[in-house]
Amino acid sequence: MAAPILRTKRLILKALEEKDADRLFAYRSDPEVYRYKGWKPRLRAEAVDFIRRNTVEFDRPGTWFQLGIYDRDSLELVGDAGLHFLEPEGLQVEIGYTIAPPHQRQGLAGEAVREVIGYLFRVMRKHRIIASVDPENAASLALAESLGLRREGHFRKSVWNGDYWEDDVIYAILAEEWSGTSGAIPGATDHSSGPTEGGGGPG
Ligand SMILES: CC(C)(COP(=O)(O)OP(=O)(O)OC[C@H]1O[C@@H](n2cnc3c(N)ncnc32)[C@H](O)[C@@H]1OP(=O)(O)O)[C@@H](O)C(=O)NCCC(=O)NCCS
Repeated sequence: MAAPILRTKRLILKALEEKDADRLFAYRSDPEVYRYKGWKPRLRAEAVDFIRRNTVEFDRPGTWFQLGIYDRDSLELVGDAGLHFLEPEGLQVEIGYTIAPPHQRQGLAGEAVREVIGYLFRVMRKHRIIASVDPENAASLALAESLGLRREGHFRKSVWNGDYWEDDVIYAILAEEWSGTSGAIPGATDHSSGPTEGGGGPG
């Protein structure tokens, strides 16, 4: 399946491209941005490699796919969203998100991630979406809560960050909880519903 092109009021989301490497590296190598991320690039070449590795195949269980988040008018890359299609069947998806510092606190992550979740549930008929959040990451906790994800568990010292063990909070939402849609049935994935526009969310 080809990666979708999603549009919101202010944004376009589509597969990252190698030409985005400079911009991606600029904000992802900022310590304030990578503080809570597993990927902490030190060289521009790592950004090129990251884009290549994470745009190979959309919706393949066991892999991440990275969408760029672009300003709808200027087409400037303002952030990115990662989708981890979980094994074995890919009906559960872990999401990750980043917005470049100059564009933070303007509701862009909420707008982008809401659209992604709507697409995963309504078009791709996914069953469950999760987010793994560092409990010290106030912005990410607030985002998960504002999207209506449920805090399901707090795992003590469960993530090795290369230096020490960190806690991990898991947020999740089911398809039937997202705007009253019904849950996905394993093996019944339907990609034929067409593109989404406008997102929507719980409540
Ligand atoms: C987490 C992140 C994506 C949020 O992006 P953003 O575009 O600033 O978020 P939004 O403006 O959509 O705000 C979403 C909610 O979080 C709140 N929020 C945003 N930044 C916050 C902060 N620093 N502290 C507390 N709350 C914050 C907003 O008030 C909003 O809550 P509301 O809907 O109840 O008003 C951004 O801070 C970021 O990229 N951080 C670095 C990377 C990262 O940690 N990613 C998450 C780990 S996967």
